[in-house]
Amino acid sequence: MKKIFKMLTLLIAATMLFVSCGKKEEPAAKESGEKKVVIKLSTKFVQDEQTAKSLVRVAEKIKERSNGNIDIQVYAGGQLPIGKDSMEQVANGANWISVDGLNFIGDYVPDFNAINGPMLYKNFDEYLAMTKSDLVKKLKNEAEEKGIKVLSLDYLFGFRSMLTDKVVKTPADLEGVKVRVPNSQLYMYTLEAMGANPTPLPFTEVYSGIQQGVVDGLEGSLMTIYGTKIYEVRKNVSLTNHLLGVSAVSISKTVWEGLSENQRTIIQEEFDAGARYNNEVTVTLEKEYRVKLEELGVMFNEVDLPSFNKQTSKVFSKFPKWTPGIYDQIEKELETIRAKQ
Ligand code: G3P
Repeated sequence: MKKIFKMLTLLIAATMLFVSCGKKEEPAAKESGEKKVVIKLSTKFVQDEQTAKSLVRVAEKIKERSNGNIDIQVYAGGQLPIGKDSMEQVANGANWISVDGLNFIGDYVPDFNAINGPMLYKNFDEYLAMTKSDLVKKLKNEAEEKGIKVLSLDYLFGFRSMLTDKVVKTPADLEGVKVRVPNSQLYMYTLEAMGANPTPLPFTEVYSGIQQGVVDGLEGSLMTIYGTKIYEVRKNVSLTNHLLGVSAVSISKTVWEGLSENQRTIIQEEFDAGARYNNEVTVTLEKEYRVKLEELGVMFNEVDLPSFNKQTSKVFSKFPKWTPGIYDQIEKELETIRAKQ
């Protein structure tokens, strides 16, 4: 009897050891003496879009790993201020995370716009290698000097193309076409160079803007076109792939430095892992969405890419605030990246 009892005790102890080894232990909030933090995260992406889903997943993982100590509340679809207003919250030190275009950090460090310039990247990997370069590390440091801690530049939602009713093949086809763009000088210059008449509008107003004739169409990725159901009002995609849809995740430097080291590690690791997950899913979904959109009556056409490329190259000399020679630096960096891939 004694022998059986001893064996049972050993078995239970071994099971407990096995279970605890398989799980990454994080100190509980009370034990570690850390303050509980609540951070609002604001994004333009609607709930059905993959980026919003990926962000909700990141917030859940952070909550779980911190034993509820870090509560990141995701507000999708522009329920809270987005774009420039969202970045202002970050720069002013609010308990806030902004997930929006790189161009909004570009308002503080102009060269961020150059990194996301038109027709630079052939694929996601080239851009993702660029965000790890010394050039971009330097820009992130400059953002920190302005009170902005960049957590990630890696949330991708695909190359952007034209969604109109008109078939667009050359820059001449865009003459007089009013195309909705995000409120960004980079997008304005790019679409102007492509021959269109760019009109800045918040995404929340695009559907009604098309219905009311404020704009003739828009430019966006397949993730946007399918995820926001904007295909209901425009049916032709001309594959210009002129800009890569990327989101930056930023938080106030003051808020960041007020977190414990453990909290910072959890947040950084989970946003990094979340970006990798988001991009993998995005690659798969883009293919699925193309098929689904075609089934929904959306048509796709190729364009004269060399002509658009030639036109958009002018954009790189249009920004007086960009560091002189930034385009050459980016090109050089890209050459290195391409040689390694
Ligand atoms: O939900 C909107 C998002 O997919 C794209 O927004 O402003 O970059 O065109 P935007």
